[in-house]
Amino acid sequence: MKQTVKDYIRTIADFPHEGIMFRDVTTLFADARGFRMAIDQLLHPYAGERIDKVVGLEARGFILGGAIAHQLTRGFVPIRKKGKLPGQTVSQAYKLEYGEAIMEIHEDALMAGERVLIVDDLLATGGTCEAGIKLCERLGAEVIGCAFVVDLPELGGRALLEKLGMNVHVLCEFEG
Ligand code: PRP
Ligand code: ADE
Repeated sequence: MKQTVKDYIRTIADFPHEGIMFRDVTTLFADARGFRMAIDQLLHPYAGERIDKVVGLEARGFILGGAIAHQLTRGFVPIRKKGKLPGQTVSQAYKLEYGEAIMEIHEDALMAGERVLIVDDLLATGGTCEAGIKLCERLGAEVIGCAFVVDLPELGGRALLEKLGMNVHVLCEFEG
């Protein structure tokens, strides 16, 4: 019997490369009870806090962020990989294991002073979320929290985000 959010997450060995233990949240999303549990727990620390917009990081952050925005009756804003958003964008480079990538947000997606919650499925090195934070802040918004289903603590993302002064909320941890 699955009891915790972690119990619903499947591990697939050697994906996408040999040696990687891929933490697959599709099995969590596919289960109504597991998905509801994850959304409720992601929101738990922010009860009573003002959140104006929910920001999701491509791609699995869209699924969680959309559900959270609906639950809060707030708007949802996507941060996407370069070249996917149709309007005028602001771009931010970030480091990958090998090389760099670019994330983008629509320049009119957030207003100065808006309080946003950033959501994604998994925190590894923190590079993706750091880029997301910078994009929100460049539009003048305030990031009041970063919420993830999974943290891989060995990869240091949580430490990086906390060094930036972020409030980080994770539901479970796995080895990297
Ligand atoms: C994964 C994950 C996070 C990011 C975390 O996404 O969903 O967004 O990596 O890694 P980091 O903390 O080291 O930056 P991925 O880049 O694989 O993109 P996808 O969701 O579009 O598949
Ligand atoms: N992104 C980086 N490392 C990962 C892992 N082990 N599982 C799923 N997504 C990841």
